[in-house]
Amino acid sequence: MEKILIGGKLSVSPVCLGAMNFGTTTSKENAYAVLDAFVDAGGNFIDTSNNYAHWAGTGDESETLLGEWMKERGNRDKLIIATKVGFDRHGKGAGLKKEQIEYWIDESLRKLQTDSVDLYYAHTDDADTPAEEAIETFNGLVKKGKVRVIGASNFDVWRLQDANNYALANGLQPYQVNQQRFTVLGTRGDAVPKYTFNEFTSRERLRFLAAKNIPLVAYSCLAKGGYEDPSRLPADLLTGKRYDAVKEIAAARGISASAVVVAFLTGLRDQPGMPVVIPLFASSRVDHFMENLRGADVKLSTEEMQQLLS
Ligand SMILES: NC(=O)c1ccc[n+]([C@@H]2O[C@H](COP(=O)([O-])OP(=O)(O)OC[C@H]3O[C@@H](n4cnc5c(N)ncnc54)[C@H](OP(=O)(O)O)[C@@H]3O)[C@@H](O)[C@H]2O)c1
Repeated sequence: MEKILIGGKLSVSPVCLGAMNFGTTTSKENAYAVLDAFVDAGGNFIDTSNNYAHWAGTGDESETLLGEWMKERGNRDKLIIATKVGFDRHGKGAGLKKEQIEYWIDESLRKLQTDSVDLYYAHTDDADTPAEEAIETFNGLVKKGKVRVIGASNFDVWRLQDANNYALANGLQPYQVNQQRFTVLGTRGDAVPKYTFNEFTSRERLRFLAAKNIPLVAYSCLAKGGYEDPSRLPADLLTGKRYDAVKEIAAARGISASAVVVAFLTGLRDQPGMPVVIPLFASSRVDHFMENLRGADVKLSTEEMQQLLS
C-alpha cells in the first residue's frame, strides 16, 4: 500500500481502520481478525479514542484491546495509532482543559501499553476552554514525547484556523489533520445531524483543508453500511443521483458499493481544490472489511469521479 505523510512525520496507509466498537459490540476474536487482515494487507493507520465505546461499556475497551493486540503481536513500532480526548464518558472527561488532557493522555498510554501516541486528536471542540490553552497543552505533550502529531475532530473551520494561527505565530505545532464526517452522499440542507457534533463536511471545509494542506480523515464514510443496505442509511443523508451512481459503478466494476466509496475518497486528492482524504471505516467482519479495502487499489476514471461529484 502506498503511504501518505502527515505532519511531516507520520507515514500512514491511505485508509484508516476504525476500532471504535472493538471489545464492545465487536468481539475480541473478530476484532483481532480484522486488525490482522488490515496489517497483512499493508495497512498501518488505526483510529481509537479514550471513550470508545462508552455507550456500550465503560469506554476503556477499544484502547485496551488494541494495547493487548499490539503486545501479543509485537507490532507497535509498525503502526500509526491515533487516539482522542475531549468527549464525555459516563459524565466525566468532556472538555479540553489542561488538567483533562494531561490526565487522559496518561490513561490512553497505559491502556495502549505504549510510551507515545502517534496522532492525538481533540475529539471535539470545547467552547469553555480558550483555543490557545488547548493547543498549548497538546504541544506540551509533544515536548514531553507523549505525542508525535496533533489533530482536531469536529471543529468549526474558523475555530481550527484560530487555533492554528495562534500555534504558527508562537512556534507551536498546529493541528495537522482534521477528522470529520464525510462520504459521497451529501446531506439535506435542512437536516439536523443525529448528534450535535456530527456536522457534515461542507464544500467550504474541503477548500479550506486543500488550501492549508491539512488532510481530512473521513469518518462514518460508509454511511453505517447504508451503501449495502439502504435501511442503515443515516436519515440526514441524501440519496438519489449519487447513490444510484455508486451502485452503477459498483455493478460495472464487480466490487461492492462501499469499495467504490473508498476509491472515490482516496481519489479526491487528484481533483482540483480537494484535500488529501483518508477514508476511516470500520467493520466487525473480515469479509466486509477486506471487500471495502479493495477500493483503495481502484482508481476511478475521470468520468466516474465526475458522476460522483455532480
Ligand atoms: N471523530 C468522531 O467523532 C467519530 C465519530 C464516529 C466514528 N469515528 C471513527 O470512524 C470509524 C468508523 O465509523 P462508523 O462505524 O461510524 O462508520 P462506517 O465505517 O461508515 O460504518 C460501519 C458500519 O458499516 C457496516 N459495513 C461495512 N461494510 C459493510 C458491507 N460490506 N456490508 C454491510 N455492512 C457493512 C459495518 O457493519 P459490519 O460490522 O456488519 O460489517 C458497520 O456497522 C469508527 O470506528 C471511529 O474510529 C469517529
